[in-house]
Amino acid sequence: MMAIPVWDLPSRVIHWCFPIGVGLMWWTGETGRMQLHSYVAYVLITLVVTRLMWGLVGSYHSRFVNFMVGPRTVLRYVREGGDYVGHNPLGALSTMALLLLLLSQGVSGLFSVDDVSFDGPFAYSFGGRFIDLATQWHDTNWGILRSLIFLHLGAIAWYQWRKRQPLIQTMWRGWHATRIGAAPPISGVLAIAIALVIGAVLAALIAVAPAAPSYY
Ligand code: HEM
Ligand code: HEM
Repeated sequence: MMAIPVWDLPSRVIHWCFPIGVGLMWWTGETGRMQLHSYVAYVLITLVVTRLMWGLVGSYHSRFVNFMVGPRTVLRYVREGGDYVGHNPLGALSTMALLLLLLSQGVSGLFSVDDVSFDGPFAYSFGGRFIDLATQWHDTNWGILRSLIFLHLGAIAWYQWRKRQPLIQTMWRGWHATRIGAAPPISGVLAIAIALVIGAVLAALIAVAPAAPSYY
């Protein structure tokens, strides 16, 4: 039987690209493999923006209006708990924070340079200290993002094995016997179209970005 998914295919594919992509970004960032770093980053930026758009037009449980809640609801959840089909109020907060930090990591990278031989494609779009600020932010933001990712993994493990909520199965298969979606999913073709448009816009911006000034 194929039940209505809580997490539709686009949300799941995008999600599982995150650990793979961020793992690659960590490795390439630390070892200076900047060409690969930038190509994986363009894919990740496209996926993050697609997920943010999917939060507006995607399937029921992926839409922000259906899981973002105010601080009172978060506090009540912290005190009283509860079982949710989609993101619980803390999961909702964490989702938003992870997506925005990933976006900020990617955007700051576009303006960053390393000390050796690699310039982000937009590094020379603004003059002066902006390159330093962006590069610094790329570094600081990574510290915050990395902590939040470890928190994410800890929280998932806690819900999965201590509270016995089947979060990982649901994120993998889309649904679980105890977690069925509230409405049929929106066609994944729309998500592919959104991703293609965002990828094309990013590629066009990179193509027209100013090159490094020549001193010779
Ligand atoms: C770099 C690594 C990761 C990042 C950036 C990340 C990010 C995210 C984001 C943004 C969401 C919200 C998904 C959405 O609404 O579309 C999410 C949910 C989730 N993630 Fe991850 N994730 C990472 C790694 C992992 C790993 C390795 C696991 C499994 C062990 C995992 C398990 C889950 C689960 C089960 C959910 C659903 C939580 C819920 O039901 O509220 N994540 N993650
Ligand atoms: C989500 C996307 C990204 C992630 C997760 C990421 C992650 C990282 C990490 C872990 C490092 C090494 C640690 C550090 O020096 O702070 C790094 C460095 C760097 N990244 Fe990224 N990055 C992303 C996007 C980008 C993009 C789009 C570019 C440019 C095309 C870029 C350019 C750089 C540069 C130039 C450095 C070296 C900075 C330095 O030497 O201080 N990154 N990145």
